[in-house]
Amino acid sequence: MRGVFVTGTDTAVGKTVVSAWLVRALEADYWKPVQAGLEGETDSEVVRRLAALPPERIHASAYRLKAPLSPHEAARREGVRIDLARLDLPVSSRPIVAEGAGGVLVPLDADALIVDLMARLGLPVVLVARCTLGTINHTLLSLEALRARRLPLLGVVLNGPPNEANRKAIETHGRAHILAELPRFDALDESAIVEAARRFPPRLPAGCEVPA
Ligand SMILES: Nc1ncnc2c1ncn2[C@@H]1O[C@H](COP(=O)(O)OP(=O)(O)O)[C@@H](O)[C@H]1O
Ligand SMILES: [Mg+2]
Repeated sequence: MRGVFVTGTDTAVGKTVVSAWLVRALEADYWKPVQAGLEGETDSEVVRRLAALPPERIHASAYRLKAPLSPHEAARREGVRIDLARLDLPVSSRPIVAEGAGGVLVPLDADALIVDLMARLGLPVVLVARCTLGTINHTLLSLEALRARRLPLLGVVLNGPPNEANRKAIETHGRAHILAELPRFDALDESAIVEAARRFPPRLPAGCEVPA
């Protein structure tokens, strides 16, 4: 497995938290190709803290944009054009967990969307969904968008208090494999992530190699 691409049904659904969990569970590196928003901790810094990674396992973002906006608009404000051709998967002996920005149809420039970056990288996709009302619709829409572009789906991670009705609806109507259901952590810190990687390992489909 070269890695996975973590996307979400929306912004703030838990992509960064799920990435930290995956990094620990898969003994992977982390890469945020396009970071929009530099105030406070960046996603790379959050993952480094939560997964307690040495700096060499966090690959530098290709674009670091100041405004916490959709990448196309954050880039436009700085006179930058996000060039897909510059977004190559970093070289590593470990798998790479790449985290997108926002959801699947977020623009990178006037032409390209996050799904185009996924297609370019060719990594199986992990879709993070929240557990609250509205998630079935957002998840099914995201799955349709991925399938319309024939992107390989590894599975869905449900993030938050378990909700069986949501899970069943996503499995049935979305024909999607649920990789894990991550609980809401009262204290979100390194020990919570390490414990979650141990207690809730991703249910990888057969044929997916996980490092020993
Ligand atoms: N399982 C969880 N338990 C506790 N807090 C969470 C959990 N998942 C996400 N959060 C919190 O929700 C917010 C958004 O999560 P984040 O991973 O940054 O989302 P995204 O990367 O999709 O924007 C953050 O403050 C994060 O700490
Ligand atoms: Mg994030």
